[in-house]
Amino acid sequence: MTRKLTAVAAAGVLVAMGTGTAVADGGGGGDPQPGAPGIGDPYYPLDGNGGYDVDHYDLDLRYDPATDVLAGTATVSAHATQDLSSFDLDLQGLEVRSVEVDGQEAVWSRQGQELVITPHRPLREDQEFTVGVTYDGVPQTQEDALGISGFIHTDDGAVVAGEPHGAATWFPANDHPRDAASVDVRVAVPEGLEGVSNGVLCGSWTHHGWTTWAWSADEPMAPYLVTLAVGEFDLRAYEAEGLAFWDAVDPDLATFDADPETEGPLVGEVVDHALGRQAEIIGFLEEHFGPYPFSAAGGIVDDTPDLQFALETQTRPIYAPFFFVDPVFAEVVVTHEYAHQWYGDSVRLDLWRDIWLNEGFATYAEWLWLEHEGLSTPQQEFDFLATLSDEELGPDFWQVTIGDPGPAVDQLFHPAVYQRGAMTLHALRTEVGDDAFFTILRGWAESNAGETVTTEEFVAFAEEVSGRELDELFTAWLYTAGRPAGLPEQAPAPA
Ligand code: ARG
Ligand code: ZN
Repeated sequence: MTRKLTAVAAAGVLVAMGTGTAVADGGGGGDPQPGAPGIGDPYYPLDGNGGYDVDHYDLDLRYDPATDVLAGTATVSAHATQDLSSFDLDLQGLEVRSVEVDGQEAVWSRQGQELVITPHRPLREDQEFTVGVTYDGVPQTQEDALGISGFIHTDDGAVVAGEPHGAATWFPANDHPRDAASVDVRVAVPEGLEGVSNGVLCGSWTHHGWTTWAWSADEPMAPYLVTLAVGEFDLRAYEAEGLAFWDAVDPDLATFDADPETEGPLVGEVVDHALGRQAEIIGFLEEHFGPYPFSAAGGIVDDTPDLQFALETQTRPIYAPFFFVDPVFAEVVVTHEYAHQWYGDSVRLDLWRDIWLNEGFATYAEWLWLEHEGLSTPQQEFDFLATLSDEELGPDFWQVTIGDPGPAVDQLFHPAVYQRGAMTLHALRTEVGDDAFFTILRGWAESNAGETVTTEEFVAFAEEVSGRELDELFTAWLYTAGRPAGLPEQAPAPA
């Protein structure tokens, strides 16, 4: 809790603009104030907003692949956390047609990524309210040092994978993982196409050449984890190990040869193989991490070459097609994205700074899966990385302080965040022993399910469970540039 206040205070600019998040004067007293334009994350000072908390997003949309236009109404149910004269939603691009608060037309303006809304009358602290935003336009695809992300237009539709903040490019949101909400998505698409999102499929119906697909996700999720996939998909609904699955696989992958030079399986075959093991992978992760935190599952694979990564979109990860060139690699990626359902989705970041709590844990899950498959052990994975030369690892691998890697996406998602992150967990395991280590992993997921966390809380939790002082270990592994002590200074040059 103190951590959160400190973080907000650190974003001095926000405090200066009158945030209600940390300043104590939320109750009765003075005049209602505008909600802060950011939630208080120093990495992305304008992401999320202050003064309210979203409870539910209802997205009623239509997407036309012929024009790339997305149109519809987002209904955001929230409650005020301070007296509010106005408040913001995050929205990038798109054309706003009207905004209502509790059914009454509201005054609004656009200021960069902020949609500033002044309700008919001020909102009181704790008051529940509903915002309806009607909008349309061609969603902008995000471009950064790692390539493109967010709302990606494909040959027959679109796919959405927007971490850390792609939600605002397709719906008005409090776009920060600190504010999770349940989400209903209804998307109308030309008859013959599928529209896929998170959670469970409630139904689909066709009217005048448009098919509406209705998805519902009751378990709160961070906005960046909301996905949408429109196009021709083979939508496979089934139950396995008591869990409801919806897989959406682009039928074009059946004949997609990722590497015509060599004689490998077709991508579609590897997709079928890897998605066919999902229930088994979830069962394996449950043995280590505790019960799967959600009530639905599945995977989305489109044939677009433009999506170059995978994302742990809640209950239904989305994958780049190139992950499915090799069956073992594909299983490892599926394991990684499911591990995020515990670490990242159910247990959420309070600050993007602590991204290693997502990526280090998901990478460690990969190591556990490789061991389960008899291919290597976590110790071998650790040793392998530890003995690679700086040249082999990339010059800055040991220079990234993964406990605070920086906001540029190529720092936030630097390979060190993943691999040094997993090594950090292995160093912890070596220090505290297997019993304490697995109690920590599982207890962390169980005791923080549905909550946000920080690295400081993880260190305190690990110390409490193990009964050891771990400051030195985490300082060396997370916050100190260079190879942690105990590792070879510089690996021997490869023979
Ligand atoms: N969390 C994702 C994963 O590790 C990576 C997201 C990368 N984001 C990006 N914009 N490239 O599975
Ligand atoms: Zn990941």
